[in-house]
Amino acid sequence: MKVVTTLAELIDVRAVLPSPFGLVPTMGFLHQGHLSLVRRARAECASVGVTIYVNPTQFGANDDSNNYPRDFDRDLSLLEAEGVDLVWAPNDEDMYPPDFQTWVEVEALTRALEGIHRPGHFRGVTTIVAKLFNATQPNKAYFGQKDAQQAVVIRRMVQDLNFPLKVVVCSTVRESDGLAMSSRNSHLDPQQREAATVLYRALTAATQAFDAGERNAEVLRNIMSEVLLTEPLARPQYVSVADPDTLAELTGTVECALLSMAVYVGKTRLIDNMVVENKGKGIRD
Ligand code: PAF
Repeated sequence: MKVVTTLAELIDVRAVLPSPFGLVPTMGFLHQGHLSLVRRARAECASVGVTIYVNPTQFGANDDSNNYPRDFDRDLSLLEAEGVDLVWAPNDEDMYPPDFQTWVEVEALTRALEGIHRPGHFRGVTTIVAKLFNATQPNKAYFGQKDAQQAVVIRRMVQDLNFPLKVVVCSTVRESDGLAMSSRNSHLDPQQREAATVLYRALTAATQAFDAGERNAEVLRNIMSEVLLTEPLARPQYVSVADPDTLAELTGTVECALLSMAVYVGKTRLIDNMVVENKGKGIRD
């Protein structure tokens, strides 16, 4: 496994890796969710690269990138064990030189959901992901369904800017009690960690109601909100029933929907989602 930091080193190492090359962009502090993306890439590609970069431009004023958990040595041992060929941990000088002034912005899709509460977040994500794609030239890039809006936004960017690669979105990996794996879970104390399962419980309640025939968007939203209310440590920021493709909030009867939410548990902001679909109306990609 080659580990590089500068763009110049990356380009040399990447040039000799066989195609198809699969890329897993990460911010490090890896967990089983990341490793599931790596394993999928390993199964589908002749060579696999992972980037580790805590991208400062996707963090807001109240969400400092310096507080993001890091453990580079542990990340490297996990990736070595997965048979990764290349790890690129870019430096700030290559990613954001002092005169940096070019941004990639996806418009309407980033104004919904997370975009309402994290202004500028997706501009940071799409800019860094475009830079990582340009530098590493992947044939496939792997993202988690846990960040559902990010996956939709990156797919749009790839299509709109004609990046010659396929975006692969992999299922959310959960702890045994349902909590979606996230590097941010490490900030939760034991009591908060227990409370954090309320996101999964709320999503599961709405999914079960949908499967039992409930199709009204408002009722599904209320089911989730009511479960969240039962947890005193949880402070919901939003609860959404949205179109999985346009991310527009839905009203009335729904046949397919992205159920999602952002909830503070203590100072930690957690997000999670599930997609519900009337199978009789056709299977989604
Ligand atoms: O999902 C993440 O970890 C980040 O948003 C990404 C895609 C690596 C961009 O910094």
